[in-house]
Amino acid sequence: MRTWSVVRPAYPLETERLLLRPFADGDFDALYAMHSRPDVARYLYWGPRNEEEVRAALVKKVASSELNSEGDFIALAGVVKATDEVVGDFVLQWVSAEHQQGEIGFLVHPDHQGRGYATEAGHLLLRLAFDGLKLHRVVGRLEARNAASARVLEKLGMRREADLVENERVKGEWQSELVYAILEREWRRSDS
Ligand SMILES: CC(C)(COP(=O)(O)OP(=O)(O)OC[C@H]1O[C@@H](n2cnc3c(N)ncnc32)[C@H](O)[C@@H]1OP(=O)(O)O)[C@@H](O)C(=O)NCCC(=O)NCCS
Repeated sequence: MRTWSVVRPAYPLETERLLLRPFADGDFDALYAMHSRPDVARYLYWGPRNEEEVRAALVKKVASSELNSEGDFIALAGVVKATDEVVGDFVLQWVSAEHQQGEIGFLVHPDHQGRGYATEAGHLLLRLAFDGLKLHRVVGRLEARNAASARVLEKLGMRREADLVENERVKGEWQSELVYAILEREWRRSDS
């Protein structure tokens, strides 16, 4: 039986072009700029968010910088090193302790999409999941029409393992869900 340890990363975490750090109260404008956009929220469960909803989301994010127990998530602001701009919102959730499962999620401001930032941050989230939290399997879930999200998960080396057809009713329409996953041993092979 595995003994779990708390994961409290030494922030800021760093990728080639980004710093990833916990959200702070001062990130309201940057978070609002992302979460209030209809194009960003199109395939998410929520939004577009108003100011009050963004404030509530920010409170939760600020409080989510370490993984102490199952259900916890780490929310990271992605800051472009060159400009100091917050352009991304990245999440790693510890889904199950017994089954050593996690989930990753990402969101990038449209002005900064297509530059590889989600993929860059995704690699770091997987490292946190497998090296830090010692998970066995990590998933990414998305609405089936979210082609950019699927592409990011593929670039991260994740396998498309489930196509769920109209399994959810979201924002007044039936939506279909794709599940991508990667096992720790697959990640070790692909990341080396
Ligand atoms: C999904 C998202 C985070 C990707 O962020 P990003 O920083 O642009 O991602 P990357 O630049 O690392 O990679 C994007 C890839 O998707 C591709 N892509 C973008 N739009 C696409 C589309 N409509 N169809 C097919 N591929 C698309 C890009 O070409 C790129 O692939 P490539 O490197 O092979 O050219 C961003 O689109 C986003 O924030 N979307 C709104 C929020 C969201 O839906 N998040 C995911 C929830 S599951």
